Amino acid sequence: MVLILLGPPGVGKGTQGATLTEDLGWERIATGDLLRSARDTGTDLGRAAQEYMDRGDLVPDELIVALVREHLRELDEATSVIFDGFPRTVPQAEALDAVLEDVGRRVDGVLLLTAPDDVLVKRVSGRRSCTECGRLYNVFFDPPNVEGVCDVCGGNLVHRDDDDPETVAHRLEVYREQTEPLVKYYEHTEARVIAVDGDRTMDEVRVAIHDALARELDVRMEGA
Ligand code: AP5
Repeated sequence: MVLILLGPPGVGKGTQGATLTEDLGWERIATGDLLRSARDTGTDLGRAAQEYMDRGDLVPDELIVALVREHLRELDEATSVIFDGFPRTVPQAEALDAVLEDVGRRVDGVLLLTAPDDVLVKRVSGRRSCTECGRLYNVFFDPPNVEGVCDVCGGNLVHRDDDDPETVAHRLEVYREQTEPLVKYYEHTEARVIAVDGDRTMDEVRVAIHDALARELDVRMEGA
């Protein structure tokens, strides 16, 4: 099974992607996380991506496609995968289709998470992430027990550089212009496009996603 998590900045792709991976035992490929890790370790890719990410622009398709191809190569062909933040442009979607076709696979489902812009801006402004284990928090909706400290591993919690209000506004524009057209793209393929209202509590969204996956794709958690 190949599933794509699609939606604007702050809608909960990372939050729900991590939960789904745990619930289903699937692999998750999150291009934003991979790019931040490449930037933090100072690889050529990280250096090339930095200026685009800082501006809230998309990193060029050829860099992203090469990155995803490399990660897919490491996976067994039968492994189920959740893509979080990829594809983000029609050329990326076409490249993914070609890579999957080579191994006799295709995109089975696209989970489209939605929420109003004011909710997205508030979520992003309150987001904190652990520098050690990556666990996400939100100072408004899901605060840590001790301010600035990860409940899980005691690591430092930081605010992302691209989460300042101007960059977020630009990221939203970029989403509307370059990524939203993917909904139409996938509606013309065999993939099921499944819209899920992301403007609910994290648990409610999680349940709605599981209901949708069971209904549309016959995907169920073990024991459910
Ligand atoms: P990326 O890291 O993918 O960022 P994004 O798509 O803008 O999404 P976010 O990470 O901001 O939000 P999210 O939907 O994951 O929400 P989250 O779960 O964190 O990309 C960053 C940059 O990398 C891009 O701008 C681009 O430069 C580059 N890039 C990445 N992929 C690329 C690609 N394929 N092509 C080209 N460039 C690429 O939640 C947000 C906050 O809200 C958290 O604090 C969370 O705790 C909280 N929250 C989540 N759900 C809820 C809820 N239901 N209720 C209350 N709070 C909630």
